[in-house]
Amino acid sequence: MSNRLGWIIQESPASLLFFFYFFLGQRQTEVVPVLLLILWQIHYLHRSFIFPFRLRGERKQTTMLIVGLAVVFNFGNAYLNARWIFGLGPGYELSWLWDPRFVVGFALFLFGFVVNKHADHILINLRAPGETGYKIPKGGFYRFISSPNYFGEIIQWGGWALMCWNWGGLAFFVWTVANLAPRAFSIHKWYKKTFDDYPTQRKALLPFIA
Ligand SMILES: NC(=O)c1ccc[n+]([C@@H]2O[C@H](COP(=O)([O-])OP(=O)(O)OC[C@H]3O[C@@H](n4cnc5c(N)ncnc54)[C@H](OP(=O)(O)O)[C@@H]3O)[C@@H](O)[C@H]2O)c1
Repeated sequence: MSNRLGWIIQESPASLLFFFYFFLGQRQTEVVPVLLLILWQIHYLHRSFIFPFRLRGERKQTTMLIVGLAVVFNFGNAYLNARWIFGLGPGYELSWLWDPRFVVGFALFLFGFVVNKHADHILINLRAPGETGYKIPKGGFYRFISSPNYFGEIIQWGGWALMCWNWGGLAFFVWTVANLAPRAFSIHKWYKKTFDDYPTQRKALLPFIA
């Protein structure tokens, strides 16, 4: 199927299921659950309905298997996170907003979100409309690493895990690292092999480290 349709089908369940459990639960008037809902939706509404339309290379295809596996993941992940936050978990007092875990997690979430979106923006704009092929990305965190989009995504969900302080958030963070870290290292290897003039000081995923 088309890559664009694939992104919409695979990512939208994460957004829809979060809304579903929010309205099913009893915490619609509590500040922390509402704030977590907003942060989740800012990410997933963008990822499901804006990001796919920004991609260049309109005719690119994906497979039903990849989309199917991503749908299964997004159902499971959204269920684990939403069901606990809005129903099964003990809930959050208003004072949780001043807890260092929430404050640091919130800051990391926003920082990761901005790094991820900026990196995706640079990557997408490497191609003119209708153009195909690959170039060396430059600017932003690309000065330090080959995959700042994955770096930002990992920081973001690390922040989420801290803010939520539950097993669902931690599982999502571990999944994100397990999924994106190997990809970042293989992309870095590919860039170095493909481009003779690839910046030598650039690392794969962690600025100045690896
Ligand atoms: N939480 C998670 O587990 C998870 C998992 C996967 C993705 N994501 C997130 O989803 C977003 C997209 O991820 P992705 O893996 O699809 O990103 P990607 O492979 O880097 O591709 C993003 C877009 O940029 C294009 N592109 C990549 N490198 C390019 C280059 N050197 N020159 C020109 N164009 C280039 C790609 O074209 P082609 O498609 O033609 O290569 C694609 O259209 C990221 O923000 C990522 O963090 C999150």
